[in-house]
Amino acid sequence: MDYKKYIEVVEDFPQEGIRFKDISTLMQQGDVYKKAMDEIVTYAEEKQIDVVVGPEARGFIVGCPVAYAMNVGFVPIRKDGKLPREVVKVDYGKEYGKDVLTIHKDAIKPGQRVLITDDLLATGGTIDATIQLVEKLGGVVVGIAFMIELTYLNGRDKMDGYDIFTLMQY
Ligand code: PRP
Repeated sequence: MDYKKYIEVVEDFPQEGIRFKDISTLMQQGDVYKKAMDEIVTYAEEKQIDVVVGPEARGFIVGCPVAYAMNVGFVPIRKDGKLPREVVKVDYGKEYGKDVLTIHKDAIKPGQRVLITDDLLATGGTIDATIQLVEKLGGVVVGIAFMIELTYLNGRDKMDGYDIFTLMQY
């Protein structure tokens, strides 16, 4: 399917020079959103995952439907100060800005096979931090799935040795 025709590209958002890829227009088309998630489910089935992990907020948009369809759990990665119990933290840089990501310390059991999801791979900073958090807890990252990859930012270079699945590239 040509998913790109459902993505609205917004110039200079959230700041000048950024061409924002808006997935909400794709999500408004229920059949297209479902087909996109089904493709990621098929990928995740091949990887025999135990759990899905996704960073806020748009990682939830991909990760939760996939986890639901597969009858596995979903673990949220959140920005600092949002998770209520004991967390593990990591600093990270992204396409526009710096931040801290956290995961609940007991969210993943050692050896669990993890699928990481997000809407978009830009510089890879967010997913690099997410991988670090999963591995600190002993999880095994067996796949990483995105709707969109911005190939010109070379985010893949940060994920050498990991299996990456994307639905569309810019
Ligand atoms: C965006 C996007 C990815 C990340 C990609 O999230 O949803 O998570 O940036 O950029 P990177 O590959 O350079 O790290 P953002 O941090 O803006 O948060 P949001 O989903 O809550 O809007």
